[in-house]
Amino acid sequence: MKVSLIELPKILDPRGNLSFIEEENHIPFKIARSYWIYDVPGGEFRGSHAFQETEEFIVALSGSFDVLLHDGNEEKKYSLNRSYYGLFIPKLTWRKLENFSTNSLALILSSTPYSEKDYIRDFDLFLSLSR
Ligand code: TYD
Repeated sequence: MKVSLIELPKILDPRGNLSFIEEENHIPFKIARSYWIYDVPGGEFRGSHAFQETEEFIVALSGSFDVLLHDGNEEKKYSLNRSYYGLFIPKLTWRKLENFSTNSLALILSSTPYSEKDYIRDFDLFLSLSR
């Protein structure tokens, strides 16, 4: 599956809205790990790497940030600013998170447990692997 913005269920209620994510239903993988990025100082970025095997789904639970994705051929920017949308990122995609708003909260669902060995941190190596 390619990079895609996925709209999540949204249960509107005068008491407040509710959204949810089911593995292998709203996202195309089983969730092995969840983590979140928060308290990002203004001007900082996160990421700037790719994964050999890991697939991810990123949601802006609060605030906003940009996700820059490079597939080996071209770069595209996705602005996330709603908690009922997420961005699916397949393996072998270079990704960088930047332009975090104050108090933003990025939830990342991952298809693998944490393993440094899965990271590709060299952009030239990424380009050669993605071609
Ligand atoms: P890293 O993925 O490099 O951060 P980012 O891509 O957001 O800039 O991770 C930063 C540090 O946190 C690194 O030392 C590894 C550690 N880490 C874990 O231990 N478990 C995890 O699930 C993640 C995502 C990171």
